[in-house]
Amino acid sequence: MSRKILILGVNGFIGSALTEAILKEKDWEIYGMDMASDKLEGCLGSPRFQFVEGDITINKEWIEYHIKKCDVVLPLVAIATPSIYVSDPLRVFELDFEANLEIIRKCVHYKKRVIFPSTSEVYGMCEDEEFQEESSHFVLGPIHKQRWIYSCSKQLLDRIIYAYGVHNNLDYTLFRPFNWVGPKLDNIFAAKEGSSRVVTLFIADILHKGEIKLVDGGKQRRSFTDIDDGIDALMRIIENKDNIATGRIFNIGNPTNDVSIRELAELLLKLVKEYPDYKAIAEKVKVTDVSSEAHYGTHYQDINRRVPSIKNAEEFLGWTPKVDLTTALRKTLDYHLGRAAGELDSQ
Ligand code: UGA
Repeated sequence: MSRKILILGVNGFIGSALTEAILKEKDWEIYGMDMASDKLEGCLGSPRFQFVEGDITINKEWIEYHIKKCDVVLPLVAIATPSIYVSDPLRVFELDFEANLEIIRKCVHYKKRVIFPSTSEVYGMCEDEEFQEESSHFVLGPIHKQRWIYSCSKQLLDRIIYAYGVHNNLDYTLFRPFNWVGPKLDNIFAAKEGSSRVVTLFIADILHKGEIKLVDGGKQRRSFTDIDDGIDALMRIIENKDNIATGRIFNIGNPTNDVSIRELAELLLKLVKEYPDYKAIAEKVKVTDVSSEAHYGTHYQDINRRVPSIKNAEEFLGWTPKVDLTTALRKTLDYHLGRAAGELDSQ
């Protein structure tokens, strides 16, 4: 069935990959807004894609008009970098919570289906072996640990969306990405100190600094998920065959890619050495330890282990992740190292 999809934050890591996949695999039309379009190179010419440069906190009329016009809304705009949660928590609240709440309310008003990016971070420091969407507890630290403002903002939106579902029949799905990685995640050149996520930070550190810093020894673990697996799950959610995703929450992660941050650093270094142009650089990289306080400041608190249960996604979406960590990192390196070579050539 043909449908019209509104993607806010269409130039982001998830938005750009989703747009590419939809244009390739479906006959759906996409309306997208973002502040830039550099990740959308291959999509901009498509007659089924209308892009407008704009800001969700400013261009509200365009957004309202397109919510009215479209069948499905994906509000993907958010700050999702931990260093900003601690350096600028109010901006995280204003964008991730306030700006998105306005959009959710318009979806309720116009009775439109909304697919909302919750986050693995809502589970916080939960100690369950695997996090379950319907039964795991959300465990956050004290108020002065400002890192949790992102988790808390997303959690409250999850609860508001759920309540609109119960009381106003809002047609929604919440999805929780678990450390998705792949090409177009962050930008290793624009990356200021601590402004992107661990995989891209480490790549930038290898190329530009000769040193990888492991926060608190790198014992903490994450389950990294390849973007193509994530997009496959999202496509099934948008498809919503027999309304199977309506009113449901899905962890979208890869429990078999659960590694410590130290293991991640070692694997990345090993893989970078396979690229002849970067072998010498990678061989000189030092892996050092840094305290979380020195790295992020006192307002930070870490998550030790984070493994998703994906039973819901398997049962209702027929989805299982397929891409192992080494392949996911190779794809990410191919993209970033290819661009790095171009950047060096043009200097
Ligand atoms: C991320 C971000 O909050 C969001 O991108 C997202 O919602 C969510 O998790 C997700 O993608 O599932 P986190 O995994 O803590 O949170 O973020 P990273 O910055 O990627 O850090 C991962 C781990 O690496 C942390 O334990 C951090 O302390 C460590 N790290 C980071 C280092 O050891 N060294 C560094 O230089 C940077």
